[in-house]
Amino acid sequence: MQYTTLGRTELRVSVAGLGCGGFSRLGLNTGGTEASAIAIIHAALDLGVNLIDTAAPYATEGVVGKALKHVPRDKVVIATKSSVIRGGERYSPERVVASLDNSLRELGVDCIDVFQLHAVAPSGYDYVRDTIVPALLKEQARGKFRFLGITETSPNDLEHQTLLRAVSDGMWDVVMVAFHMMSQNTREKVFPATLQHRVGTLLMFAVRSIFARSDRVAETMKQLAASGQVPQWLADTPEPLGFLVHPGGASSLTDAAYRYVRHEPGVDVVLFGTGDQAHLRSNIESILKPPLPDADRAKLAELFSHLRGVGLVAPPRAASKGAKS
Ligand SMILES: NC(=O)c1ccc[n+]([C@@H]2O[C@H](COP(=O)([O-])OP(=O)(O)OC[C@H]3O[C@@H](n4cnc5c(N)ncnc54)[C@H](OP(=O)(O)O)[C@@H]3O)[C@@H](O)[C@H]2O)c1
Repeated sequence: MQYTTLGRTELRVSVAGLGCGGFSRLGLNTGGTEASAIAIIHAALDLGVNLIDTAAPYATEGVVGKALKHVPRDKVVIATKSSVIRGGERYSPERVVASLDNSLRELGVDCIDVFQLHAVAPSGYDYVRDTIVPALLKEQARGKFRFLGITETSPNDLEHQTLLRAVSDGMWDVVMVAFHMMSQNTREKVFPATLQHRVGTLLMFAVRSIFARSDRVAETMKQLAASGQVPQWLADTPEPLGFLVHPGGASSLTDAAYRYVRHEPGVDVVLFGTGDQAHLRSNIESILKPPLPDADRAKLAELFSHLRGVGLVAPPRAASKGAKS
């Protein structure tokens, strides 16, 4: 494993972080059991992963707590989240503090390393900053969490407005941001600001669902070619990103997706979610490999840098069964 420093938190974290939400939820969304989810967490720890990201809405904090019961507290960096606005309903500060307290109970710890406010849309940002954060800072002073974080709601914030405001507001030590091969504007919009302010970054959506299966890429290319957003040849081939897979290049679509994001200046931790032990190993291997060749990166920029909103939401069949990603 390789380790880096999570912005100004100075926490030493693995460059690969285990995400406990997404479409898999440690496999709990895809037929896994609590025991298999715990085994995924233990396998990740054995491979050197020391950052685990969960959230109250994922309903995986309890499993994380059980998996970490006998793990020395200083061996793992725990990040979790509370919802703040859901279905148009604004949570009161008391409700968010209650969520924090419940997270501490579920995780079985006295202190959370990074407590994040989940999926904050630009329209809710002022409310969160002015009403929720003051209450949370009191809880932070009581020792319930070490660092405050915020995550964006990517499909509803294609220009990263929430995080751009958050980074310059100064109270957020960590942000969770989306970035992938067809969602590239994070490079110009967000990373220069997080680097300038030394805000730590947790990267989501490297694979999401689009880069988990090549038929989803093919389907997406057909739609984009029909609206003139990508060249027709990308719609006419069953493997539109096949050009990335070659000796000296990526070994697979998912390998390409992880390596694309991992080496971007400004990316601290690449989150990956899985319920599959083989995927866990190959994802960590990919995150530890060198960058994609320059020519392949240039081609991805030429073909896709103008796209917005691609590959951020789930196709209906991949959507989560209950818990939110
Ligand atoms: N706004 C937010 O705060 C927010 C939103 C979304 C996600 N997140 C965080 O980010 C983490 C990552 O979420 P994500 O949405 O980016 O997606 P993800 O959880 O990384 O999902 C990847 C998908 O691809 C599959 N997969 C993983 N490795 C694979 C491989 N090697 N080959 C083929 N398929 C593979 C997984 O299923 P298998 O089980 O089959 O491997 C899963 O369905 C989440 O767990 C969560 O911690 C945060």
